[in-house]
Amino acid sequence: MELNLKGKRALITGSSSGIGEAIAKTLAAEGVFTIVHGRNEQRGREVMDEIIQNGGKAAVAIGDLSKDESAQKVAQEAMQAFGGIDILVNNAGGGGSLSWFDASTTDWANAYQQNVISTIRMIQHFAPLMKESGWGRIINIASGVATQPTTAIADYAAAKAAVVNLTVSLAKELAYSGITVNTISPGTIRTPGLEKAVRGIAAEQGWDTDDWSELEQRTAREIWPNPTGRIGRIEDIANMTAYLASPLAGFINGANYRVDGGNIASIN
Ligand SMILES: NC(=O)c1ccc[n+]([C@@H]2O[C@H](COP(=O)([O-])OP(=O)(O)OC[C@H]3O[C@@H](n4cnc5c(N)ncnc54)[C@H](OP(=O)(O)O)[C@@H]3O)[C@@H](O)[C@H]2O)c1
Repeated sequence: MELNLKGKRALITGSSSGIGEAIAKTLAAEGVFTIVHGRNEQRGREVMDEIIQNGGKAAVAIGDLSKDESAQKVAQEAMQAFGGIDILVNNAGGGGSLSWFDASTTDWANAYQQNVISTIRMIQHFAPLMKESGWGRIINIASGVATQPTTAIADYAAAKAAVVNLTVSLAKELAYSGITVNTISPGTIRTPGLEKAVRGIAAEQGWDTDDWSELEQRTAREIWPNPTGRIGRIEDIANMTAYLASPLAGFINGANYRVDGGNIASIN
């Protein structure tokens, strides 16, 4: 399928690793001029170099999005790289405390800064510019725990629920502008952080194996069960992002797409 993305310009926050890195590489392979972002400059530049070596166009913008000043600098650098942004993927985020009462009020506020206000900072910068150009895509990365929280990482889950919510209000706010706003809610996706967590669980549970495919299968059946029977790949999220970013997805607006192998037991 031709996605008609060639020559569009995208900022993918948090693309120095994990899901964001796959999104940046997938969009670049579709001919999108990509801006790789993260706090770690070296890793950001490595991703950018790989995209360029593979024939893509890329630049970097480096900085912490949980603070106004550094986020403003990121937005300006991203803007200058290719003269504008058509696609904004708010992927940077993460964190969260292990249990409800371990999380201090500062932890709750930090989770909100890290996952929600970081997203709002980029939206406030780029949405008015997209509005002027009459076309744009804003894709926010939330999580399955936004819909079905557990007792763990409650601060993170509540922050991600706010991301799902603000996506809908923003889609309405930007009515008739040519901009669509959608959320993708990943399930468990294999990243270095997730793999470490799975290996920790395996040790705790006394599973007698180091073999990743066995660990993955048990995790996807016993710990975070889903009917597909595997942990997600970063490309699973990247492919959905590429479609939502494309002109083909122009009638999809204010939606939340679960990409979780069926983990979240909800009809919608
Ligand atoms: N992996 C999963 O199973 C999973 C499941 C559901 C949702 N998600 C969501 O998917 C997104 C990506 O997750 P991931 O697993 O790919 O994470 P990851 O591998 O830890 O990567 C996170 C990325 O975000 C950047 N980042 C984090 N906080 C930032 C901040 N305050 N300012 C600027 N950059 C920041 C990191 O930059 P540096 O490393 O360069 O500092 C990195 O590029 C997150 O929003 C996460 O909540 C992940």
